[in-house]
Amino acid sequence: MNPVIEDSVNPGARPAGEASEAAAAAHVREIFNSIAPRYDLLNHLLSMGLDRRWWSRAARSFRDVLTQPQARVLDLCCGTGDMTAALLAQRPASAEPVTGLDFSAQMLDRARVKYSTANALWVEGDAMHLPYADGSFDLVTAAFGFRNLTNYAEGLREIYRVLAPGGRIGILECNQPDGLSGFAYSIYFHQVLPLLGGWISGDRTAYTYLPTSVARFPRPPQMLQMMAEAGFVDRAWDGYLLRAAGLYRGVKA
Ligand SMILES: C[S@@+](CC[C@H](N)C(=O)[O-])C[C@H]1O[C@@H](n2cnc3c(N)ncnc32)[C@H](O)[C@@H]1O
Repeated sequence: MNPVIEDSVNPGARPAGEASEAAAAAHVREIFNSIAPRYDLLNHLLSMGLDRRWWSRAARSFRDVLTQPQARVLDLCCGTGDMTAALLAQRPASAEPVTGLDFSAQMLDRARVKYSTANALWVEGDAMHLPYADGSFDLVTAAFGFRNLTNYAEGLREIYRVLAPGGRIGILECNQPDGLSGFAYSIYFHQVLPLLGGWISGDRTAYTYLPTSVARFPRPPQMLQMMAEAGFVDRAWDGYLLRAAGLYRGVKA
């Protein structure tokens, strides 16, 4: 199993016992580079096809911004580009392109091939140190990527920095539900998923990291509190499918 180092002061992803943020980030990048060839297949299979619905539902939550042709939109941790494409589906023709950013070259390569004709800019970069000036975007999203950041509070501050006043944040993330559905979810996530994922991808470590990263991720009340501390107002969390995932929303004051 992949041990997870608990760090209540400075929570962020820490795969396989990596002690420093830099080592953890390098390890996360290595995991995604290694599973990139099978990522889409496994994503659709392991989420039982729900991923597509969730990207689309999250994107529709920002229709009011996305339908403005001049809106500047950044999709962080874009991976192979499916959330970026869901955002683009809500954009009018001749709108400004949507930027998809990720630090895994292998994941991005797939996005470029899959969406070669899409009105997207694909950028290799680190979500913790965005290559953009303050106030550059009207909407910043991240789908199933934010929990991989090595420092959640700093990640939120960085998103806040690049948003223009009144700009919106949308973080679609997995959640560990409570009660009976939480029990069923735990069995699936901690027993079935690492086995299936490891078998198909040939990388068991990567698919053990997935449930541990979800377990480590703050629950909605803590995450909403962290968003408040970063300065976001009008914060909300919409739970999807018995709270197994959900969309965090907020506005830069
Ligand atoms: C689970 S995938 C999600 C990809 C895509 N958004 C989706 O919904 O399928 C997480 C992605 O986050 C990226 N990622 C993790 N930490 C990052 C960071 N600090 N900067 C940029 N990308 C990061 C990984 O490379 C990976 O492609």
